[in-house]
Amino acid sequence: MELFDVYPLYNVTPVSAKGIIVTDDKGQEYLDFYGGHAVISIGHSHPHYVNRLKDQLDKIGFYSNAVQNPIQVELAHKLGALSSCEDYNLFLCNSGAEANENALKLASFKTGKSRVIAFKNGFHGRTSAAVAATDNEKINAPLNKQQKVTILPFEDLEAFKTEIGKGDVCGVILESIQGVGGLDQPSQEFYQNIASLCKEHEVILIADEVQCGYGRSGKFFAFQHFGIQPDIITIAKGMGNGFPIGGVLIHKSIEASYGLLGTTFGGNHLACAAGLAVLEVLEKENLIENSAQLFEYFKEKAATIPQVKRVKGMGLMLGLEFDFEVAELRKKLIHNQFIFTGGASDKHVLRILPALNITRENLDLFFEALKTELV
Ligand SMILES: Cc1ncc(COP(=O)(O)O)c(C=O)c1O
Repeated sequence: MELFDVYPLYNVTPVSAKGIIVTDDKGQEYLDFYGGHAVISIGHSHPHYVNRLKDQLDKIGFYSNAVQNPIQVELAHKLGALSSCEDYNLFLCNSGAEANENALKLASFKTGKSRVIAFKNGFHGRTSAAVAATDNEKINAPLNKQQKVTILPFEDLEAFKTEIGKGDVCGVILESIQGVGGLDQPSQEFYQNIASLCKEHEVILIADEVQCGYGRSGKFFAFQHFGIQPDIITIAKGMGNGFPIGGVLIHKSIEASYGLLGTTFGGNHLACAAGLAVLEVLEKENLIENSAQLFEYFKEKAATIPQVKRVKGMGLMLGLEFDFEVAELRKKLIHNQFIFTGGASDKHVLRILPALNITRENLDLFFEALKTELV
């Protein structure tokens, strides 16, 4: 059997990783400024993370959601406290798409309606409703296109009012900072208007924090920069630092009932140990603060590079916008400078998503390398 060939691959074979450094099978070291699509939040193979997972595996790695699992409860309590989201309950799952799928389903259960409003250039995953809410025709099969989704541009408040006013909308989903799309974000005013119109029309507001959450923006959640309060928050990526885990934070106004949601693997013991290890390191090492501080330094450094048109994003969820397409630059960074970066749907944006415990010195190295490749 061969692999189903859906990924265009770089010719790099990582075999080990520590902190921000990834080492390949030839012993070449790479600086990881991408974290495998924003997944590595506390650095590769963080010792606390490794020990916690090993300890957990020595005890019990998995049992289903039919039994008591105190580690889930501990994870929920710690997440509520660190994120200041004590008014929410947690449903655990395995990925970002699954988190959004469950969030959209809950919006529909709660309201009895079925149309979703999503936004241009948004990305919410590849499952049924999540992919339908994703602004990319190419990854929507005819099956997905049966879903009722209206995609609107950010800032067109009139269009938003018209659509939500039709009375058939169950949920509005958006990323507070778009990841795959290229680091665009709504204005504070627009986001606040959306939030109040959702309240007025009893529509569920879903903040997709799968990529921009978990400290990456310099606050625990990116929506917290905008002074709004979503009904549902979805998380994944940085939550497990590489261990597959996702979650849905559901406001207490949305009631649970047995069987409403469910999963075999979600919330298993090993996944919860990974989730707790991440939260413990975020707290102990003040990584959210580090993310906010390094953003300021990143902007200073970027200002010294004339080819950079604009810095996009916040915290360590960053994009550098150029007036040329960045595909070649990314290749040069990886093959000549041994640095991983990311692209976006907006081909002019280089995406930078390092672990939240990188240093100024790491950023200095990145900018030196960038300068070398831009001359
Ligand atoms: C904002 C956002 N939502 C959802 C997803 C889907 O997550 P997953 O790939 O874990 O299903 C992604 C993945 O890139 C994402 O960036």
